Amino acid sequence: MNSNTMFKISYGLYVLFTNCGKKMNGCIINTVNQVTSQPNRITIAVSNANYSCETIKKTGFFNVSILSEKAKFDIFKRFGFATGKDIDKLKDFLCDTANNGLPILKSDVSNGWLSCKVIEAKDLGTHTLFLADVLDAEIISEDEAMTYAYYHANVKPKPKADETSKDVKKKGFRCVICGFVYEGETLPPDYICPLCKHGVDAFVPL
Ligand SMILES: Cc1cc2nc3c(=O)[nH]c(=O)nc-3n(C[C@H](O)[C@H](O)[C@H](O)COP(=O)(O)O)c2cc1C
Repeated sequence: MNSNTMFKISYGLYVLFTNCGKKMNGCIINTVNQVTSQPNRITIAVSNANYSCETIKKTGFFNVSILSEKAKFDIFKRFGFATGKDIDKLKDFLCDTANNGLPILKSDVSNGWLSCKVIEAKDLGTHTLFLADVLDAEIISEDEAMTYAYYHANVKPKPKADETSKDVKKKGFRCVICGFVYEGETLPPDYICPLCKHGVDAFVPL
């Protein structure tokens, strides 16, 4: 089996917004799928290690902002490489609010949003799969939605030549999602990237 085939699956990119009463939080996800249109339902898969998983389980509500190709790496850094367990990711960040009171991104980085209510949650081990009704949705710009492929080609900073040559001398594995380097001869089979929380499938040898 060629497990790299999984990288041929196309995804969009989103910021998932939640609020458990203490503070609003946002988290980058790529796992939004519309599963039925009548009723209008989506699924999202959220790592059990993420603060967002906890907050959705507590409240049962979330918003999804669809990232457009105008979004820059700073959005990914803010919402994808830090956890709401440690910091307030919405501090000094300008966003709008949907009718359900949860945040949504502005039209300079997003082309639309969905407000959702969870109807079922299934623990998949590393992640929880949430099935949710879409209660409200709006288009806010006509910009193209950002795909994972676009993010890799145009948004994610490329490793600098000197860093790459340093890494070549190291023994280890690089996370293709965020660039984190694990140093060691072998990658533990249950290893999870400490920055972006992707599993071993996202790592390539240096
Ligand atoms: C491109 C990209 C895609 C990601 N996709 C997902 C995803 O689908 N599900 C998930 O749980 N985390 C995903 N992450 C990781 C989370 O965004 C990251 O762990 C975040 O820091 C969690 O924040 P939180 O603890 O405040 O919820 C992704 C990160 C990046 C950079």
